[in-house]
Amino acid sequence: MTQTTSPTAAPPRAEWTGQIGFILSAIGSAVGLGNIWRFPGVAYENGGGAFLIPYIVALLTAGIPILFLDYAIGHRFRGSAPLALRRLAGRLGEGIGWFQVMICVFISIYYTAVLAWASSYFVFSFDLRWGDDATGFFVGEYLQVADAPFTFDFVPSVLIPLVIMWIVTLVVLGAGVVRGVQRLNMIAIPLLVVGFLILVIRALFLPGAMDGLNAFFTPDFAALTDPSVWVAAYSQIFFSLSVAFGIMMTYASYRRRRSNLTTPGLVVAFGNSSFEILAGIGVFATLGFFAHQQGIAIGELEGLTGVGLAFMTFPAIVAEMPGGQFFGALFFGALVLAGLTSLISIMEVILAGIMDKFGITRAKAVYGLGGVLAVVSIVLFGTSSGLTALDTVDNWANNIGIVAAAVAVTVTVLWIRRAGRELSGHLSALSTFRVGRVWLFLVSVLGPVVLAYMLFETSRALIEEPYGGYDPTYLLIVGWGSVLAMVIGSVVLTLSPWRYDPDRFAPWPVLDETARGPAAAPDANGGAR
Ligand code: ALA
Repeated sequence: MTQTTSPTAAPPRAEWTGQIGFILSAIGSAVGLGNIWRFPGVAYENGGGAFLIPYIVALLTAGIPILFLDYAIGHRFRGSAPLALRRLAGRLGEGIGWFQVMICVFISIYYTAVLAWASSYFVFSFDLRWGDDATGFFVGEYLQVADAPFTFDFVPSVLIPLVIMWIVTLVVLGAGVVRGVQRLNMIAIPLLVVGFLILVIRALFLPGAMDGLNAFFTPDFAALTDPSVWVAAYSQIFFSLSVAFGIMMTYASYRRRRSNLTTPGLVVAFGNSSFEILAGIGVFATLGFFAHQQGIAIGELEGLTGVGLAFMTFPAIVAEMPGGQFFGALFFGALVLAGLTSLISIMEVILAGIMDKFGITRAKAVYGLGGVLAVVSIVLFGTSSGLTALDTVDNWANNIGIVAAAVAVTVTVLWIRRAGRELSGHLSALSTFRVGRVWLFLVSVLGPVVLAYMLFETSRALIEEPYGGYDPTYLLIVGWGSVLAMVIGSVVLTLSPWRYDPDRFAPWPVLDETARGPAAAPDANGGAR
């Protein structure tokens, strides 16, 4: 292996200080807006209780196996998504890594906007600012949504929290992996769990709560024959578990050499799903209360997913609830904490990729590139055109971008590069339980086939019927245009020259478990700070 002493050798890579720091940071990434505002509605719309079947199948057959794949690649090849995949699968791999980075670029731009809204609503909860027309307040007074798309009038009520949210994010990231990211997660995740448990327990004691739970858990088994329900389950798992778009690969690259990967992976996966189901219980107990107040069935309520659920339905409920101020503050506070720790992980994918490739310092990456992303996000979402753009980009980034990235990684790594045994050996050598043929089958056969089918089905549906009833030309520009921009961005970045030679590196040895010290020269790891 090459021992480099060149002055251009890459500095050593940052490392989590231990298992707990890593696990809490990975849980912080996984538990996010996807758990609180997406899962309950997605589950309800896709068969209620019966959705748990495709959800659990998706978790076990794709979520956890691809999480392990991300961990194995990131840890063994010690790099951000483009660097690790480059080392594993050459230029093609690098291109896929940059595609994952580009997905994160698009997600970070709108994810911060939702966090900004949640932080405003945390403050509004104390005096129930939305009054008795929560929807009118959100769309009109707060967002000032323009009738025409591409209208860029600044809206101060959104602009200010958005700027604050970006500053907080960049300051945490600027402090580094351990002093910034890990420290934030060590504080935020316990706080989030306690706060959210209080919220759910309170919700369960509201009148009508049990009707809500019945609506949520009553299975509609007919839904299981609908392919779109299965597609929804797999998409939900990927977004929610932060797999297939570079996050878990990047976070695993900061683990020490002799690290158990599979056990923390299970803790993260089951922790995330438990939180998700808890969120479903809390949200539906609350919706049960709302239906009870209005004397209607849950099925007659509207706005049970995403933006509608969090910023229209929930505030309306809070306004009717005894002690609603406290409940609202808990809900929006939880959204902010969960979302912030996820946003940080999404941004880390971008920054680590850029630091690895161009050899710039963390400070330059955070305040230079992060600053540019902040400006784009502020121009797009601090203005009156925000809501439609957010919904459109969210749909394309998740249902096309992430699924395409998952197919590309599994096919390239396992079919073209044939690295299955190498990676399963790496996972098994370092972990408390071995992964074997079942894992290999899931990531190399079942995963790519199911995901490719999903990608085809989703694309077909999006082409046949304009998403959300929006103008088809708008969808072409903003939706498909975003995916095209991701591809172009990844090609340009792949063709740019590396600051440090990415191939000057040797993977951690698989078999020699007793070897002491790193196998590769510590300065040859092309790492980010
Ligand atoms: N995993 C993160 C979420 O659920 C991105 O929001």
